[in-house]
Amino acid sequence: MEKHTAKESARDQFVSKAGFIFAAAGSAVGLGNVWRFPYLAGQNGGGAFVLFYLLCVIVIGFGLMLAEFAIGRHTQLSSVNAFRKLDKRFTFVGAMGVLAAFVIMGYYPVVGGWSVAYIFKSLLGQLSTDSQIMGEAFGSLAAGTFSPIFWTAVYLLANIVIVIKGISAGIEKASKVMMPLLFILLIILVIRSLTLPNAIDGLKYLFVPDFSKITGDVMLSALGQAFFSLSLGMGCMITYASYLSKNENLVQNAIIVPLMDTSVALLSGIVIIPATVSFGFDLGQGPGLVFVTVPAIFATMGPVLGRLFGIIFFLLLTLAALTSSLSLLEVVVSYLIDNRKWDRKRAVIISSIVLFIMCILASLSMGPLSGFTIAGLNIFDALDWFANNLLLPVGGIFITLYIGWFWGKDKVKEEVTNGGSVRFAIFEIWIFLCKFVIPVIVTLVLLSGIGII
Ligand code: PFF
Repeated sequence: MEKHTAKESARDQFVSKAGFIFAAAGSAVGLGNVWRFPYLAGQNGGGAFVLFYLLCVIVIGFGLMLAEFAIGRHTQLSSVNAFRKLDKRFTFVGAMGVLAAFVIMGYYPVVGGWSVAYIFKSLLGQLSTDSQIMGEAFGSLAAGTFSPIFWTAVYLLANIVIVIKGISAGIEKASKVMMPLLFILLIILVIRSLTLPNAIDGLKYLFVPDFSKITGDVMLSALGQAFFSLSLGMGCMITYASYLSKNENLVQNAIIVPLMDTSVALLSGIVIIPATVSFGFDLGQGPGLVFVTVPAIFATMGPVLGRLFGIIFFLLLTLAALTSSLSLLEVVVSYLIDNRKWDRKRAVIISSIVLFIMCILASLSMGPLSGFTIAGLNIFDALDWFANNLLLPVGGIFITLYIGWFWGKDKVKEEVTNGGSVRFAIFEIWIFLCKFVIPVIVTLVLLSGIGII
């Protein structure tokens, strides 16, 4: 995180607007956009899922992000302490967020590890033949025993080193270069993907909604994906905004970050789904989708160019993943430091050991432990479901309820308009969203996704 060194501010702050936007967007843009969004769209019927996802981002994403920004900047505290200061009864919301970060970090590094492995596979030219790409490479990696755990360890170690040394400022700086690069690369890939035979069918699948596909389960997946992708519902954005200066325009930031995040998700979908259809791969294959389809696109570009693009793509994906998982690990670590009075090194090392054990189980659940299921889901999917389809939405309900009903409208207005100096024409609508619309929609989708209504 880029910070002031000036002594006069009691708490570090982002030096520039761009510093904050890149840190917040760095947390938001990650595996959620490039890996999870396309495979969920593929599994959940395409257009109808995408439409509901976009609705969630517009109505819930913007509203909840602004709510988190306001709480964070007002209290200048990370989420557990922010709620403890504002209203003790809501402290559990912060605690639930820490739990969510912990659960997500129990499998996110596994996918980060696959991404690191794919940098090397591209480098070594192990992704050039059809049989390598279609199954062999991903299947033998993900379903293996030692190799995925090794790569997970490499990825987790990178997180540990960065968070212990507190050198995330360097990473955030790097992401200012990497994110535009990822964007450009995705646009090149969009062109390549859309010029493949029958790509148009994939585009239709992605954007023409088939409303018969909408079920409670599909809606809950789209909602959970919106929370996960925007890093919402667990206080991560509260923590980031606690470093934000008092004259920054929160409303503008709450529009720009979701816009950036959603563009990356849509671009990834437009790269992956049409190519998957064109190659005749299975759209519903789940977590392996990006790791099979994207190398297949590169293979059509010839051995040299394809290899080069492969290395760059998985390097950028790994970095995008890192800026997200750093923010997750930081939520857990800062809780242990602030509330349990641990020192940073101990907090990082002990939490990482526990996380590594969870990651080992999550990784093995793709292979040797795949027979062990919880409510029909393997360990990996169960952790993912519990965090994204349950903890984050419930967190979101309480955060918006707090803004709508408990903080006090005048105080909220004071914070989001910087004491009246920022115009916020739809303030009343936003409050209405927080009071009724968001909590009611999220509750209904949750209940219907769980099968209660
Ligand atoms: N938004 C990240 C992604 O899309 O990969 C994941 C994430 C980061 C979720 C931080 C939640 C969070 F607090």
